[in-house]
Amino acid sequence: MTQPLKHYLQFTSLTADEYAYVFQRAALIKKKFKAYEKHHTLADRTLAMIFEKASTRTRVSFEAGMYQLGGSVVNLTTGDSQLGRAEPIEDSARVISRMTDLVMIRTYGQDKIKNFAANSRVPVINGLTNEFHPCQVMADLFTYIEHRGLTVHPLDCLKGKVVAWVGDGNNMANTWLQAADMLGFTVHVSTPNGYEVNPAIAGLSNSDCYKVFADPMQACEGADLVTTDVWTSMGYEAENDARKQAFADWCVDSDMMAVAKTNALFMHCLPAHRGEEVAADVIDGPQSVVWDEAENRMHVQKALMEYLLLGRQ
Ligand code: CP
Ligand code: NVA
Repeated sequence: MTQPLKHYLQFTSLTADEYAYVFQRAALIKKKFKAYEKHHTLADRTLAMIFEKASTRTRVSFEAGMYQLGGSVVNLTTGDSQLGRAEPIEDSARVISRMTDLVMIRTYGQDKIKNFAANSRVPVINGLTNEFHPCQVMADLFTYIEHRGLTVHPLDCLKGKVVAWVGDGNNMANTWLQAADMLGFTVHVSTPNGYEVNPAIAGLSNSDCYKVFADPMQACEGADLVTTDVWTSMGYEAENDARKQAFADWCVDSDMMAVAKTNALFMHCLPAHRGEEVAADVIDGPQSVVWDEAENRMHVQKALMEYLLLGRQ
């Protein structure tokens, strides 16, 4: 079976029902990977990866994942392609999508990836933009579900839960809001003044899916999951000094974890800065699942790539 052309540009690009399928499939793909069983559903398919910003996890998880599916990968960066020499994004999309089966892009503005997708013959996946990081939140949700015990209906364990977001109102925060809106949990958001989330970017259908707290401790109270991210995202480096001052009280530490539920998990998309957005004893402590999160990027993205190209198996 093949799919009609379908892109994954933000969390809302798939429905809850599609996430339930992709998570079940990711669990199977992960199990086979652990057992060294071949799973070559994308043999002879090629993934083009375009990186306009740095990456470790996204690069390795997509590249290793595509090889494990029997396919191959072409890697382009701004510096080593015509993308960095002002070839229009529309022309790049037309050309790249005639030679490959799937494209993953990490770039700056969401408008750029939207424009690429509008001119692409093949599915386009968002590997991070200034506005969203949907592959990461998909992996985080899968990790949460896995730690709570995968069930027949994997999304059930998310309903009514509280996710505390401590830190910048950035691409990860926007994506968490979209996930909460769709899947029925609540995000307790605490950011310094001037770094708030902008719900208009997330395009929420229901503003009840998040609550704003001035005090990060209050945001963490009773949370099922506490999560944070770097104070300065890629592309905002010029603001680094100002951000270090503004975010000083937004470090997830053991006091914040102590007011969350006793079985609360800690997540961070990584890379992390110990002593800034998270204390070392939290990220390296027993409630932290950051390494599972990182690994699960690969398993969920394999399921996603397979779904975008082949549909349900
Ligand atoms: N979390 C994440 O996307 O990591 P990279 O920037 O290393 O790809
Ligand atoms: N918010 C971070 C995430 C890095 C994976 C950034 O955009 O740099």
